[in-house]
Amino acid sequence: MSVIKIKRYNPEKRKDSYFQEFNVDLQPGSTLLDVLNEIKWEQDGTLTHRMSCRSAICGSCGVKANGHATLACQKQAEFLLDKKTDSITVEPLGNMPVIKDLVTDFKQFWEKVDQVKPFLKNESSPPEKERSQSPEEFKLIDDSSTCIMCGACYSDCNVLEVDDKFLGPAALAKAQRFVGDSRDEATLERVKELSEPGGIWDCTHCGECVERCPKPAQPFYRIKEIMTVALEKGVHDNNGARHALSFTKSVKSSGLLNENTLPVESMGFTNIKGLLELVPVGLRMLLKGKVPPIFHKPCGELNDVKRIFKELDQ
Ligand code: SF4
Ligand code: SF4
Ligand code: FES
Repeated sequence: MSVIKIKRYNPEKRKDSYFQEFNVDLQPGSTLLDVLNEIKWEQDGTLTHRMSCRSAICGSCGVKANGHATLACQKQAEFLLDKKTDSITVEPLGNMPVIKDLVTDFKQFWEKVDQVKPFLKNESSPPEKERSQSPEEFKLIDDSSTCIMCGACYSDCNVLEVDDKFLGPAALAKAQRFVGDSRDEATLERVKELSEPGGIWDCTHCGECVERCPKPAQPFYRIKEIMTVALEKGVHDNNGARHALSFTKSVKSSGLLNENTLPVESMGFTNIKGLLELVPVGLRMLLKGKVPPIFHKPCGELNDVKRIFKELDQ
């Protein structure tokens, strides 16, 4: 018998959440969703979880297994077992309020998806028939089109844990679906809005959403694609874009990152308030002996760095 530890919560009965253990004889090939169903149907009918398609299509069965978001119907339980304890810990998705047991409230998730205006904007040519795309054009939005809105990426995003204003990986992946759409006429307007605080530049590039996403949507890669479009469209008047440009300029010219100019260039030379905010940080670094050297040793592989940039430019 294996142990399935499930985080239970029912505010009508008890204020706090707690773990309850169930003993289950795991059958080869059973998914985690099969196991949850077996517990609900044969051991405790009060256990509450969501499901519909059982085929990794509807996106409704997202839970955390051993601390990481996953689709319960997509993972075989035996591969989730902690070999030392012969157990699986199941919790509700993170970064969302819990309604009951494994069921979370997606309200803020959907509000953020709405915020990126997830519909085609094209006023110029009212179509008499469908607007078609070439295979090459569709390839640019193929991956983001596969999102099933399961919330796994949203659950495990590190930025959302500390900043609930961040749009989050799912909404940004959805935004790329339209930023990259050859039929959409609002690309500039979209990337301007997505470059505001809470948008693309607040992502910390941790890559967790790529690990968690059960589909090719893989939000972090989509966020990078929006960043590229924003830079190409000249949307540079924000800390994130300036940071990326300063980083690139420094590495391209010297092969090294100049950590003295990076914060100043990221903030912007005319941003007096922002620059003044850097002063206490600089002083603390000075006192702790953490200020980077003004003159770096030259980079030994500068020619290789330049060659890489040349190839990228081409
Ligand atoms: S890569 Fe960005 S969006 Fe994805 S989980 Fe990390 S911080 Fe969140
Ligand atoms: S991007 Fe991936 S993990 Fe995020 S909601 Fe869509 S399918 Fe789920
Ligand atoms: S039940 Fe539909 S995705 Fe798992």
